[in-house]
Amino acid sequence: MYPRPVAALAATALGCSALLVPGGATGTERAAARLCGPQVIAHRGASAYAPENTLAAVDLAHEMGFVWVENDVQRTRDGELVVVHDDSLARTTDVEQLFPDRAPWKVGNFTAAEITTLDAGSWRGAQWAGARVPTLKEYLNRVDDNGQKLLLEIKKPELYPGIEQDTLRVLGEAGWLDPWHVRQRLVVQSFDAHSVRAVHARRPDIITGFLGTPPVADLTSYAAFTDQINPSHTSLNAEYVAAVHALKSPHGTPLRVSTWTVNDAAGAVRVAGFGVDGIITNNPDVVQDALGGCCAVPVPARPAPGPALDCQRPVVPWSA
Ligand code: G3P
Ligand code: CA
Repeated sequence: MYPRPVAALAATALGCSALLVPGGATGTERAAARLCGPQVIAHRGASAYAPENTLAAVDLAHEMGFVWVENDVQRTRDGELVVVHDDSLARTTDVEQLFPDRAPWKVGNFTAAEITTLDAGSWRGAQWAGARVPTLKEYLNRVDDNGQKLLLEIKKPELYPGIEQDTLRVLGEAGWLDPWHVRQRLVVQSFDAHSVRAVHARRPDIITGFLGTPPVADLTSYAAFTDQINPSHTSLNAEYVAAVHALKSPHGTPLRVSTWTVNDAAGAVRVAGFGVDGIITNNPDVVQDALGGCCAVPVPARPAPGPALDCQRPVVPWSA
């Protein structure tokens, strides 16, 4: 659907009151959901329109008015954290041309300096030529400069022992572990429960998410270390969302659900009807339009301290 005028995305809250949230949410959350519907999260940036996990994809999401972006973090041979989805560089860069004898081109077999030389944009079209695989530090700085918020996925942590500590270190160095970021602007998630648990153990104040659909009977054990259960939309229904919402997170708030990867209007309406809190999508404009458009409000590049002008749920004070 994109490109189109950003002004077209700056909708009012009118007409956005039809979304219903099933039982389990607090009164405050139900009121917020009636106003805004689920949070729209740009998956790997605005990845339907720009090369995934690049600064260009983050910038485009910002230009389109989307505050939350999702990314994937892995580690180079020399210990640098970089933002890339596959554990091989082959699909999204020109690594096969530049390093033809290095198959299967694993991220962990390349140095950061080598990865810096790769073109991570041309595979999506000539207009993106020259886009790079960003380091996590570069990525965090850009997201911050844009006034955006980050759903950070630790990707395949089994390949990178200790990546949780490395991620926390870089987040700290980039200024992302102060209360302002931790309470409102950052979620760390993984498909690996051990990884999520490790992040929670080291920094219990950080909001965490588990990627997957644990059996309802097991959800209580997950609620000990995670704030979100983030399933594939293919494994979701209203009863499951309600079961998650019925539990309290380590921060004393209801567990939340952000589902992935929903790229069409019908799918967005379907999962919104289940009562999800977030929709992770390559096509944030399509999803936002399907939900009524009320949350696609452009934010200033460098917002003054205070609540951001997006549809982030009102901050519920954490329990001690
Ligand atoms: O954030 C959810 C989603 O990104 C998980 O799947 O493979 O796109 O990282 P994947
Ligand atoms: Ca991901």
